[in-house]
Amino acid sequence: MAVIDELQDIETQTLAKVSSAQSLKELDEVRVDVLGRKGSLTNILKSMSSLAPEEKPIIGKRANEVRKTIESALEARHEALEEAELDAQIEAQALDITLPGRHKVVGSQHLISQIEEQMCDIFTSIGYKVYDGPQVETDYYNFTALNTPEDHPARGMADTFYVHDLSGEQSRVKGESDVLLRTQTSGVQVHTMENLKPPIYMVAPGRVYRRDVADPTHLPMFNQLEGLVVDEGITFGDLKGTLEYFCKEIFGADRKVRFRPHFFPFTEPSAEVDVSCGVCHGEGCRFCSHTGWIEVLGAGMVDPKVFEFSGIDPEKYTGFAFGIGIERVAALHYNLPDLRMLVEGDMRFLNQF
Ligand code: PHE
Repeated sequence: MAVIDELQDIETQTLAKVSSAQSLKELDEVRVDVLGRKGSLTNILKSMSSLAPEEKPIIGKRANEVRKTIESALEARHEALEEAELDAQIEAQALDITLPGRHKVVGSQHLISQIEEQMCDIFTSIGYKVYDGPQVETDYYNFTALNTPEDHPARGMADTFYVHDLSGEQSRVKGESDVLLRTQTSGVQVHTMENLKPPIYMVAPGRVYRRDVADPTHLPMFNQLEGLVVDEGITFGDLKGTLEYFCKEIFGADRKVRFRPHFFPFTEPSAEVDVSCGVCHGEGCRFCSHTGWIEVLGAGMVDPKVFEFSGIDPEKYTGFAFGIGIERVAALHYNLPDLRMLVEGDMRFLNQF
């Protein structure tokens, strides 16, 4: 074959190979085959010296043209392939921003803590201070100083959890241990009166324990908010007004509230306060034991004997006290038919609040 035809062949075939090369590696192989040290075009350029003198300029010119054409085709293809490879790489490594993020579960206050805070807020907004007291109490603070006589049924094993006293002696039998889990927050009244001088306007929220079987309206561990006011000239009218104000604030003006005479060893006179049942709207249901009312608190005028135990002059001061069941307030607030829902820890229930 004449050299000029050979050049034509190299050009045609190489351009075809260049445009069909699918990767930079393949393209480089094409380049080496033609322009490499032993490449087809290199061989022709090397053998130029053996050509006839009249052929040299023609073949030389053509060979250079072919080399330039091939080189620029290689270069263009190189660029295109490089760009495609980069695109492919970017695509492969790309972040899929449409993937939904991982949801972080954020904790929140338990319903009981929320209600407790709301209740404290109502009292602090009218000048009360919030105090705390121990959950493990002595018999003296839970009973004796609250004028609860030795033979009062509230002292029996039926109601109270006695604990081993700190000497390590087994003391679970009534009368053998002075240490107990408080059955009421009323002991905080005694601590407060021992430590503060009147006027006293305080509330104290916290857990209390009773040997009760859990049912829709009772739990063996629950929370109370104790309240105590000691000042000159405090009357039962102040107690009623304060508790009516509290009930309207927490339950709304449409709920009915009633005071019933009652007995507590540490208040005289005493009352219990009921709120109309929100589950049945007073019609009667399981939650209100078919009475239409839920008892939410006990209250009364501080018995002068209690003042004497704590060193406050009953001739000078009078006062009132109250103890509100926080779980019952929560249940009435949200019309929960069963207090046990509050302690079962079912997130489907708790997440609603
Ligand atoms: N401690 C009483 C109870 O647990 C409630 C109460 C508190 C009553 C203060 C009167 C005064 O039932």
